[in-house]
Amino acid sequence: MFKEDQKNLALSSNNKLPQIRNYQLLKKIGEGSYGKIYLSEDLKTSSLVTLKIIDKTFLELLGKTEEAFIEQFMLIHLKHKNIINLHSCFQTKQKLIFEIEYFKNGNFENYLKQIQNKNGILSYETSKFYLAEILNILLYFQKNKIAHLDLKPGNFLLDERLHLKLIDFATCKIIGKEYDLKTKKFIKQNNIIIDNYLGTPEYVSPEILNKNVINFKSCDIWSFGIIMYELFHGYTPFKGKNEKETIQNIKNGNFKIDEKLPFEVKDLINKLLNYNQEERLGVNDIKDIMKHKFFEGINFENLFEEKVPENLKKCSSDSLFVQKRKISFMEELYSTDESDFDNHSVNFSCGNDFCVVKYEDNNIEFYDNYFVL
Ligand SMILES: Nc1ncnc2c1ncn2[C@@H]1O[C@H](COP(=O)(O)OP(=O)(O)O)[C@@H](O)[C@H]1O
Ligand SMILES: [Mg+2]
Repeated sequence: MFKEDQKNLALSSNNKLPQIRNYQLLKKIGEGSYGKIYLSEDLKTSSLVTLKIIDKTFLELLGKTEEAFIEQFMLIHLKHKNIINLHSCFQTKQKLIFEIEYFKNGNFENYLKQIQNKNGILSYETSKFYLAEILNILLYFQKNKIAHLDLKPGNFLLDERLHLKLIDFATCKIIGKEYDLKTKKFIKQNNIIIDNYLGTPEYVSPEILNKNVINFKSCDIWSFGIIMYELFHGYTPFKGKNEKETIQNIKNGNFKIDEKLPFEVKDLINKLLNYNQEERLGVNDIKDIMKHKFFEGINFENLFEEKVPENLKKCSSDSLFVQKRKISFMEELYSTDESDFDNHSVNFSCGNDFCVVKYEDNNIEFYDNYFVL
């Protein structure tokens, strides 16, 4: 179908709820552990949005059904200036679809790589600023007993003013609770045992690797420490030749901090990368990290309104360029393209309440029995 026809069709529809035919997929901008991310045009408003499309069959085969619901739950409920905003989510027979706001500056990981390609790292002040923005999110999480468990530069986007926006909530946990797939509710559960879960090895905390019964309350602080280390060195502290080696390095606990760094940087990194979970700085109150000498002069409450220090050049990578190669809707939305799994019978049921629309004033509406196909 030509775009104009599709657009006319979209405009003529009275259905206020999201429908796949109202979007034109423009470019794949990400592919992660379970979803594919597309820059898309909302034909009704002619605006650019992001669609995260997850194949239900694939999801079930990977055993990640729960993660999709947790991601939905978090995207609906989290509300913070440094967290991405969900517009809506809906489902077809085969796909779960999240419509999220689009940011053309890409993710923080690529941004750091571009700086490194020019043999640079972020300046002291810029690093301090971004770390302070992440701390604001961690404070919000601590208040709400949420653990993200996959904090890393690839899970932050840069908005148009180059402030950070956290994405990717599939691995989130509510501390002391476990998600119950049957009732789609979080139920009290104090001893959560890690079985197969692992975040991204370089950023994952030792207590998760040791697969103990853990309470998750300071795992994100460890990852935050790794990010801080990375911003000041240009690489992460435990990276090995492969995942196995990285994991071994974390377990062995050897890492070297550049001696030439200022004292407050070295001191804070050491206090964050503390192997004793209970003694890690911030475990009881994130404000203990905020009060560290390194953050002297930061006004945490106004950070988002402030200008990011140093006039950094905006990203110019190819991923920011909207190519006009269209992807067929039919192809992407109605088929299971993971052909290996063709013979797998779909018995996935994600319930009938997956459709959610978030309005401008942050009003949220749930729609039962809404499938677009
Ligand atoms: N809203 C968005 N705007 C722009 N790029 C995005 C957006 N969401 C995701 N991306 C890109 O897609 C990548 C993967 O997205 P993510 O949600 O982390 O998926 P996964 O769960 O598969 O890791 C991100 O690192 C980013 O580069
Ligand atoms: Mg991700």
